[in-house]
Amino acid sequence: MKFDTPATTNPIDQMKVVGKPLDRIDGPLKTTGTAPYAHDRHDVVPNQAHGYILGAAIAKGRIVSMDLAAATAAPGVITIVTARNAGKLVKGDFNTALLLGGPQIQHYHQAVALIVAETFEQARAAAHLVRVEYVHAKGAYDLKAGQKTSKSADSNGAPGDTAVGDFDGAFASAPVKLDAGYSTSNESHSMMEPHASIAAWDGDQLTLWTSNQMIAWSVGDLAKTLGIPKAKIRVLSPYIGGGFGAKLFLRSDAVLAALGARAAGRPVKVSLQRALIPNNTVHRAATIQRIRIGATRDGRITAIGHESWSGNLPDGGPEAAAIQTRSLYAGLNRMTSNRLTVLDLPEGNAMRAPNEAPGLAALEIAMDEMAEKLGMDPIAFRVLNDTQVVPDFPGKVASDATSRNKPAAHPPFSKRQLVECFNVGAKRFGWDQRNAKPGQVRDGQWLVGMGVASAVRDNMVMKSAARIRLDRHGIVTVETDMTDIGTGSYTVIAQTAAEMMGVTIDRVVVRLGDSSFPVSSGSGGQWGGNSSTAGVYAACMKMREAVAQKAGFSAGSDVVFADGQVRSGERSMPLGEVAGLRGLVAEDMIEYGDFAKKFQQATFGAHFVEVGVDIATGETRVRRMLAVCAAGRILNSKTARSQVIGAMTMGVGAALMEELVVDQRVGYFVNHDLAGYEVPTHADIPHQDVIFLDETDPISSPMKAKGVGELGICGVAAAVSNAIYNATGVRVRDYPITLDKLIGQLPRMG
Ligand code: MOS
Repeated sequence: MKFDTPATTNPIDQMKVVGKPLDRIDGPLKTTGTAPYAHDRHDVVPNQAHGYILGAAIAKGRIVSMDLAAATAAPGVITIVTARNAGKLVKGDFNTALLLGGPQIQHYHQAVALIVAETFEQARAAAHLVRVEYVHAKGAYDLKAGQKTSKSADSNGAPGDTAVGDFDGAFASAPVKLDAGYSTSNESHSMMEPHASIAAWDGDQLTLWTSNQMIAWSVGDLAKTLGIPKAKIRVLSPYIGGGFGAKLFLRSDAVLAALGARAAGRPVKVSLQRALIPNNTVHRAATIQRIRIGATRDGRITAIGHESWSGNLPDGGPEAAAIQTRSLYAGLNRMTSNRLTVLDLPEGNAMRAPNEAPGLAALEIAMDEMAEKLGMDPIAFRVLNDTQVVPDFPGKVASDATSRNKPAAHPPFSKRQLVECFNVGAKRFGWDQRNAKPGQVRDGQWLVGMGVASAVRDNMVMKSAARIRLDRHGIVTVETDMTDIGTGSYTVIAQTAAEMMGVTIDRVVVRLGDSSFPVSSGSGGQWGGNSSTAGVYAACMKMREAVAQKAGFSAGSDVVFADGQVRSGERSMPLGEVAGLRGLVAEDMIEYGDFAKKFQQATFGAHFVEVGVDIATGETRVRRMLAVCAAGRILNSKTARSQVIGAMTMGVGAALMEELVVDQRVGYFVNHDLAGYEVPTHADIPHQDVIFLDETDPISSPMKAKGVGELGICGVAAAVSNAIYNATGVRVRDYPITLDKLIGQLPRMG
């Protein structure tokens, strides 16, 4: 199904099942510990051996020698895989470094060997007996030092730099202005389930049980890395204990399980030990940002500039933190620049709301600072500078009259309710209770303050396919390689199929995460919910046609699917009866035409935070939070709310706790486990509330839905920082806001 005109009324609009706060259909499996996660799949193939990955002990350089003798002779050891015996490996399209290094080492903890043994403990013990001799090369690990060698860098098709009007002139002449620097830290996804895979070969056919967000990308890169046809690979990933972007791409557990199983001649299971993950895999790269805003005295932005610097390995991309500044606020004169510097730290890549999360962490403090300079309420300042069209857009330079690349009309947003989010939130949160003067509100030992921030995150749409089976009992089975990374995919897909086929949700079976199923959008970039259900919608439309035809209803007649029946006029038949003994099968894909490109699709929100800062210790506690989201149709108000609450909590982590600390001498992240890398839990925040505005977006898909999983984190860190400022009068521009950044500057106790 080609989606190339705005959605009109369709069966989803009935909202009998879609939108309801239904419990997760996979909930009982998960809460009873019986959902088969990759590492738990002892039953799928017999005789599994265990692999343990040895990571490089240098960040850059070369292996001179590897002495495997003691490890090979250790109890239970079956085989050891290294770059010397692994055969030719090719870097996957989505990988920045080889997943098995040697002799060249590209980053710290890059895998250099897989030790395969009868038990995990034997493999781990033997790994410690491997002697590796390295030659160090001088590496670059310091982002600040690398700023001068940085280059403008594109990000997924968006240009590195944009310019509209005369930014420099307008900024210079603005009566009120801000020029400030900010920084965000290297962050680790820290999902609960580590990367894990079991690989088994049957001749030249490889089966991989793993934990991965994007099945088709995984198959493609596994085929490329190993030099085997995609048809010879089956990847299964039905349950995933969190991803946040860390599992978008193939990682070392998968490749080394496959290589280990080939070498051992039997199935091999590999899980990355927690302490290997931050340096072996991916992280959100730190940024340094500079923001300049100029405004008239009455608060209209006349100039806005955002520059961001981040680092990555030579083949990596930038953390494009300036990107949302192209579309969030009005202003005639603008510039943005995302700059990349080559560093020899591990690979930086997508983590929940890549670009916007760190970008808004800076921009939304800057907006708070500007509002204060203007003597305006921070919400009023944002509302005044709202825009219903994109003020900047890639590749078009409005000031360049001679350009053949003529400025097109500024595209409108398909739906933008940022102002409504603030209005609704201000009322619910009690924003009028905020004291605009910082450091005024005391509650015992606590200095109390409130802060807000805007949230924006693009709504990407991805083609997505599904297969529907209808059996003689009227059971509807959905098959698609879509994944559920804890988001609720199983449930919203079941709701979609139930709505479309007119059955109750207990009549729907959902099977996900198997490369033998039609290729879906996968889970990433908050596109999964809308795109994958739109694919199911398309396949269900096909099935409805097949049912109507088999039931003998003439095309174009008024066919209704309800109560497990198909009905036309006076005639109705149970779906199972129509399907008959052999059942019916239908498959289709949602594909997006160009029409949606005439619009900017995005999701919007407003975050409200109240903090208490301990006046003696500088410790910050988030007392309550509210997110108001405008994100299209909400497919399940319970799973969506859980997504947003999880994202808000993660945003508090970025604000207050999370930082992978770089050891500049060795070039690695020192605190590479969950003892040294701290994240908050829900219990750290006593009150969290989420409001979804009533919204449908007919441009996004037949579902009229968008994404919420990433919107929920966007802006949170700044709202926390702004609340801390309001509480204490201390403006912290460098994340995380740990107590050492506050303690010396707090007002005297009294
Ligand atoms: Mo997301 S960071 O694309 O899983």
